[in-house]
Amino acid sequence: MMRTWKKTALGVMLGLLVPAAAHAVDPPNVDLTRAEEISAGRCSLCHGPEGDSASALYPRLAGQHHQYIAKQLADFQSGRRKSDTMGSMAADLKPEEMLALGVFFEKKPTKARDARDADLVAVGRFVFHRGNEFSGVAACSSCHGERGLGTEQLPRLAGQVPKYIEVQLKSFEQRERTNDNAIMHSIASKLTELEVKAVAAYISTLD
Ligand code: HEC
Ligand code: HEC
Repeated sequence: MMRTWKKTALGVMLGLLVPAAAHAVDPPNVDLTRAEEISAGRCSLCHGPEGDSASALYPRLAGQHHQYIAKQLADFQSGRRKSDTMGSMAADLKPEEMLALGVFFEKKPTKARDARDADLVAVGRFVFHRGNEFSGVAACSSCHGERGLGTEQLPRLAGQVPKYIEVQLKSFEQRERTNDNAIMHSIASKLTELEVKAVAAYISTLD
């Protein structure tokens, strides 16, 4: 709440002429130098130096909640969330390094993506805010928030790479995403192909 307020006030003061400021995170005390070192040596190759890769295959980490990042890294390491790529990347990270990486990436600035297909985005906006009462899909916003910003327990979706969202919704449906998939499995299994594409397109335009 505070963060939104601050960001809005700043935006108004600066006449909204500047790109979104880096996120004000109230971080636990972590070693950001160490996080930067690990990121430069190992993560930036795919996730980009600013937590935003150019490839459609890799999720944006910029702005993501540090608790969620640290939790996912722990799950990749233990194998709860199966991933050939991330399993080896997280293999030797210490818990304090996972948390430091989380804070490091959460602080990175985010921005919305351009809407490529306005009609598709409009369908996605409906699904995101209203769900689909005919097939029993809950509105995404009821958990992920009106602007897709998530919470400490729930991932931020706003501005995420659309292809990554699509792939995750498919893997929740198939239970190929192996950790904590109960809630999202029941949602993803009711989404049509069109709804998946549309909601992913809409989410990417949020910031
Ligand atoms: C070779 C490419 C590659 C490298 C290098 C890499 N990642 Fe990833 N990362 C991925 C892919 C692909 C995924 C999506 C999960 C999957 O499909 O297995 C992912 C997912 C993640 C996620 C989960 C994001 C979410 O929204 O759930 C986090 C957190 C993450 N990576 C952090 C890191 C960190 C920290 C490093 C460096 C230690 C790193 N990654 C290095 C490719 C990479
Ligand atoms: C009842 C609450 C709830 C609703 C409604 C909900 N989600 Fe989620 N979603 C979650 C939870 C909880 C997680 C985190 C799972 C985890 O911790 O691994 C999640 C995770 C995700 C992820 C993975 C993000 C990442 O970074 O990997 C995506 C994508 C997602 N949700 C999309 C959606 C979409 C699209 C909708 C609407 C069609 C939706 N969710 C509706 C609770 C919800």
